[in-house]
Amino acid sequence: MCGIFTYCNFLVEKDRKAICDILLNALQRLEYRGYDSAGIGIDGDHEGEVILFKQVGKVAALRQLIDASKVDFHKTFFAQCSIAHTRWATHGQPSPLNAHPLRSDKNNEFIVVHNGIVTNSPELRQVLQKRGYVFESETDTEAVAVLCKYIWDSQPSQRLTFTTLVKAVIKELEGSFAFVFKSVHFPNEVVTARRGSPLLIGVKTDKKLKVDFVDVELTQDQESKFGAASAGPVAAAANGMLAPPTMTQSKIERQQSRAFLSDDGMPQPIEFFIASDASAVIEHTKRVLYLEDDDIAHIAEGELHIHRLRRDDNISAVRAIETLELELAEIMKGKFDHFMQKEIYEQPESVVNTMRGRVNFDTRKITLGGLRSYLNVIRRCRRIVFSACGTSYHSCLATRAIFEELTEIPVSVELASDFLDRKTPIFRDDVCVFVSQSGETADTILSMRYCLERGALCVGVVNTVGSSISRESHCGIHINAGPEIGVASTKAYTSQYIALIMMAIQLSEDRISLTERRNQIIDGLHELPGQIQKVLATDHLLQQFAKNTLANSRSLLIMGRGFQYATCLEGALKIKEISYMHSEGILAGELKHGPLALIDENMPVIIIMTRDSLYPKVQSALSQVTARKGQPIIICNDDDDSIEPQMKTIRVPRSIDCLQGILNIIPLQLLSYHLAILNGFDVDFPRNLAKSVTVE
Ligand code: F6R
Repeated sequence: MCGIFTYCNFLVEKDRKAICDILLNALQRLEYRGYDSAGIGIDGDHEGEVILFKQVGKVAALRQLIDASKVDFHKTFFAQCSIAHTRWATHGQPSPLNAHPLRSDKNNEFIVVHNGIVTNSPELRQVLQKRGYVFESETDTEAVAVLCKYIWDSQPSQRLTFTTLVKAVIKELEGSFAFVFKSVHFPNEVVTARRGSPLLIGVKTDKKLKVDFVDVELTQDQESKFGAASAGPVAAAANGMLAPPTMTQSKIERQQSRAFLSDDGMPQPIEFFIASDASAVIEHTKRVLYLEDDDIAHIAEGELHIHRLRRDDNISAVRAIETLELELAEIMKGKFDHFMQKEIYEQPESVVNTMRGRVNFDTRKITLGGLRSYLNVIRRCRRIVFSACGTSYHSCLATRAIFEELTEIPVSVELASDFLDRKTPIFRDDVCVFVSQSGETADTILSMRYCLERGALCVGVVNTVGSSISRESHCGIHINAGPEIGVASTKAYTSQYIALIMMAIQLSEDRISLTERRNQIIDGLHELPGQIQKVLATDHLLQQFAKNTLANSRSLLIMGRGFQYATCLEGALKIKEISYMHSEGILAGELKHGPLALIDENMPVIIIMTRDSLYPKVQSALSQVTARKGQPIIICNDDDDSIEPQMKTIRVPRSIDCLQGILNIIPLQLLSYHLAILNGFDVDFPRNLAKSVTVE
């Protein structure tokens, strides 16, 4: 959902070619977040000159545009800051004018890259237009760039620092955002700010960093208002009261330690990388700090200063510099053609990584360190509420039954957006579990904040370390699936599934009567990696199925019940999102209540009929389908000899009922992959989608 990147060097010599390469390579890593258009803003040949390159489509197209340009690629810079963006369109179609960076005016006085949505941009735009400012794009972001200029123009006699200016701008904005600002008035400086969208800053120096944190400058709240203090900016503007903003100098109460000086107190060569996520900085540095909401960070002259927008005693006054554990190889495709394919094939290892250090297969004991202090609170709660979106929601559905069975606590599973729409009642004795691969999905974060406000215990189940959900929840589980780059989620699903089952097992460990059941599940977990390998070994057959049976179909139904209902929904989601084929997951018990009308000899149907207590009921759904001349493909266990030989089958190893869905989803992941390839679609970049949905 848009990727932001910034590169600043100080006392480090780089030519323009190297700078462009750093920006473009980073954008390529962030491309999974949006690929409607891309752009960069770099320094020109003269002091105070900023050049923009913007192109519709993927980063490769931008690279071509830049390569073909007449800029002097040999020009060197000892200090510079440049910004870059890859876009997932929310306001305005993909076009060069709507691509980021957006600018304040034709001289590029202020340029901005943005991830998120500024919800009051129409009002700001209207107000600024009335003041004579001209807009060239349809984006919400342009209002922010123009607002910078308006505030700058309104303060001719007063020297504004870049930070003060950005603070004044941010105070006028509603919505969610991560921004980086660059200006001809502040060469070799950038300011970055976040509220609701992720941002981290990587730091690279040859010398060892002297400190492992950056102090936050707590400043007195400053006034920067349009119009009267009693009216908000929009109200004031709507009344035609737009007045120049009033600025007061910030009073710094706590001076940041100058973290990046060398031993002799002299400035040292240093590079900074601002990014939406770690994948864009990992090839340069592993030392990063994560910004919090309402942090405003300023980079200038080799120093990084972090300020708060407002005083807030609840927010920590230091930002720790952490060491990323990510390896570059993890975010490369290696021998695979696509990230999605690589991630499907990684599942034998990713599920082991989810269990590593947590499941003791000898003692059959599970220990989730992140929940240790909260287990009794969770055991005593009156209900558990899962909240998530898309695939993560399906992992919650897949594990609800076993969660209820093992914990004997009622569990409700909520789509985060609907949960918020309904203003679901939440109480202090509820436990709310937020499941998210990215940890940055706006709906899931907002549902978590809603529950935090109501005093519920909030548990995060996330893949991305340092993400908003992992930081803001009370406790949680990192699923440790490794970076997932393909837009269609695959290995995160199986790891979320396992993480939730491990949580249920640990919560139930005081129930003696369930010991046998728990032991069987733990034994089942032990078998999983080898069984996943076996499913992957059938890939060539699935490719043939995709080619011979499904490739020309317009629609596909996937049917099952009980534990497999979630598999049907997840399989259908995979197929529609990357092969653009209509696909629907159907609860087999509902077949006769409507969907049966769709069945005829031409409608492809996959029936999930692996062995569990509901097998006879799925058999009767199969009979209903074949009685209407349906030609189902059956996903069944490899030892199932009760299926008539003329039936088409996809065979998978047998696991315990509650884990079988982990094996059953893999053929569907592979089918969706092959269908997309057969139809010539871009598997890792499905149209209209982005990996991390940071807007509501
Ligand atoms: C589908 C897919 C999406 C995500 C959803 C939630 O393949 O990836 O449905 O599952 O957008 O994302 P996270 O898990 O990051 O909260």
